[in-house]
Amino acid sequence: IFPDSEAASVQVARELATFIRERAAQGRSAVLGLATGSSPTRVYEELVRLHRQEGLSFRNVISFNLDEYYPMAPDSLQSYVRFMHEYLFDHVDIAPGNIHIPDGTIAADQVADFGRHYEEQIRAAGGIDWQLLGIGRTGHIGFNEPGSGPASRTRLITLDHITRTDAASDFYGEENVPRRAITMGVGTILEARHVVLLAWGEGKAAVVKRLVEGEPTDSVPATYLQHHPAVQVVLDEAAAAELS
Ligand code: F6R
Repeated sequence: IFPDSEAASVQVARELATFIRERAAQGRSAVLGLATGSSPTRVYEELVRLHRQEGLSFRNVISFNLDEYYPMAPDSLQSYVRFMHEYLFDHVDIAPGNIHIPDGTIAADQVADFGRHYEEQIRAAGGIDWQLLGIGRTGHIGFNEPGSGPASRTRLITLDHITRTDAASDFYGEENVPRRAITMGVGTILEARHVVLLAWGEGKAAVVKRLVEGEPTDSVPATYLQHHPAVQVVLDEAAAAELS
């Protein structure tokens, strides 16, 4: 628990940078699972600063993003492809071929194949070393909405009403928010070797309490992280306010 999200984000970026550098020193890749949304933006800004000012290289980084709205054109204002390029990829030296983001343009009947292929790509890279997460007010991680079980894999999902309400301002109205998304599954996320979940602000306090202190349940999919051996939950004081 940090006094504010600024201090927390800088610390998370530092730890991630140390991991990337250690792997580079060993001649190994660093396989990162990445999130979008408001929670990780300051982490990405700090990583860009570390690249520009302190020589942090992303040449050994392979990335897999958690999710993308469906359908979604990559050049749309709200696409997660665009988000990742704007906040991180356009400003660092990651190899374009090492970037993986679920494809919001494929036909619905090809999403199942796409999901299997995405999971194969993660396995072929050696599995995710370091997974960054936010948490939605519904208890989602990725876009694994209530009802998502611990064995769920990369797939098409219907977004919860609350999630669409929370995204409304990005889309200039809830009616414009896509009804579906492609997301890594809870099972996919649980296979990452190290998980870091970020939550800021009083709006997250209730779901953070359920995440940390509630029983693991499909109705709050993030609670399955309690079964994971290496999770850091990084909070500001407001998000931690309801913890006992
Ligand atoms: C985004 C993602 C989502 C967000 C969550 C919180 O890639 O997977 O789970 O992390 O909706 O969003 P923010 O950070 O905007 O509160």
